Order: sequence, then structure tokens, then C-alpha cells
Amino acid sequence: MAYLEVRGLRVGYGAIPVLQGIDFDVEEGKTTVLLGLNGAGKTTTVATIAGLLKPSAGTITFDGQRIEGRDPAQLVERGVALVPEGRRTFPSLTIAQNLRLGSWTKRQRRQELQATEARVYEYFPVLEERRDQLAGTMSGGEQQMLAIGRAMMSLPRLMLIDEASLGLSPRLAKTVFSIVDKINDDGVTVIIVEQNVGVLRHADNALVMEKGAIVYQGSGEELRKGDELRKTYLGAAS
Ligand SMILES: Nc1ncnc2c1ncn2[C@@H]1O[C@H](COP(=O)(O)OP(=O)(O)OP(=O)(O)O)[C@@H](O)[C@H]1O
Ligand SMILES: [Mg+2]
Repeated sequence: MAYLEVRGLRVGYGAIPVLQGIDFDVEEGKTTVLLGLNGAGKTTTVATIAGLLKPSAGTITFDGQRIEGRDPAQLVERGVALVPEGRRTFPSLTIAQNLRLGSWTKRQRRQELQATEARVYEYFPVLEERRDQLAGTMSGGEQQMLAIGRAMMSLPRLMLIDEASLGLSPRLAKTVFSIVDKINDDGVTVIIVEQNVGVLRHADNALVMEKGAIVYQGSGEELRKGDELRKTYLGAAS
């Protein structure tokens, strides 16, 4: 059994169906990238795994336990962390306060949290330099780092990152991807939603979505190196 198993998952907004019964597996300790054009259903997929949307059918099994339809807070406690699209940091709180909020459900695990906080500051030195600055006054790139740092502070086993590179310079996007590699090396299973195929260098496995369906599931390298595959699934622009 895979670490994360999604089967027959259907999700919609009101009467509008979006995910049309999707199936996929995510392996433990790997980075899986979820690609697809605007409106394909990527955010809907990760938001459902994180408990923000309730499926109308299908199952999500995480580490042997069914989690579909559970409360987001309960899922954070079990080790599922979402870095949402658009970052969503708390603008009127400082960086340090934002990070501390991330750790709320794990506040008893003090030593691990101290070590993780040190790791967040090591990965993103700018966050330490500006720890007393209000999050709302930080640049888009810095807020992205903070959103990832805050997710790290919930001591996740599965991290879902929605559009990590959106709005970042190519250089900063690379930095963020290399930190994602480090987080994965630390033992966290990662699902990263992207439209930038540059992310494939950092992915073990790849999923491609189209109109609410998974149209490719395979190795990241195969998709990266296969021009035909890439054109078929991601269009000429890639
Ligand atoms: N709150 C909502 N109410 C109604 N429809 C929605 C809602 N959120 C998303 N949708 C629709 O669901 C479909 C999938 O959206 P989703 O946000 O999952 O796509 P995405 O792949 O993340 O796209 P993007 O790359 O633009 O972020 C789209 O057609 C979108 O218009
Ligand atoms: Mg999206």
C-alpha cells in the first residue's frame, strides 16, 4: 500500500463537479510534482487532501488510515501540512509569531520544535534577520519562505505546497525548490503543485492533471526528458 492513496476522488463546488473520480499514489519519502494548466483541479486536489474541501465520493488513505473529509486541524495533527496558494501568512503578526502559530498543534514537542525553528532559520536566513518584522510588510518571496517555514513548524510528515514559485523570480524559484529538496531529505514526503516544469528536476514522481482528471502518472525524469510526453501533456510552451 502506498503512503498516500487516492481512489475515485470526486470533489466539486456546489453543483459544479471538478475532480471526476481521480486515482493516484504517492510514495513515502519522495517528492511528487502535480502539474497542469490553470483550472485543471490542482488546488482542489491538495485542498481536499488537507481537509479544506469534502469529497462527494472516493477515499484518501494516508499511512494506512482513511482521512477523507476529516477536519483540517486533525490532519495537521496527523502530519499533513498545506502551504496554500497565495501564501496566506498573518500580515499583522511578526515572522516569529507566524512561525509559532504553525507549531500550535505540536506545542508539546518542545525540543523538536526548537530544532525545527533553528532549521527554518538555517534554510531561510532572511526570516531570522527579520524575525520581528510584520509579515504583511515582507516581499512576496519572503512571504513564500515564511509560509513554507510555518508549515515546517507543524512537524509534518506530508507537506503539500501549492504553487511555490508563483510570482517569484527564476532565481528565487530555484532557491525555494532547493529548500524543498532539503525538506524532503529531512524525511518529509512532499507534493508540490506547479506550472513551472523547471520543478521536474526536483521531483521523483510526476502527476499531470487536465480538466479534473489525472492524465499522466510516472517518473519526473521520464516526463522531463521525454519531449513528446511533455508536449502531449503540458503543451508546446513547455
Ligand atoms: N470556490 C470555487 N467555487 C466554484 N468553482 C471553483 C472554486 N474554486 C475553484 N473552482 C473551479 O474549479 C476548477 C479547478 O480549480 P482549481 O483551483 O483546483 O484549479 P488549479 O489547477 O489549481 O488552477 P490554477 O493553476 O489556476 O491555480 C476551475 O474550473 C475553477 O474555476
Ligand atoms: Mg491552483
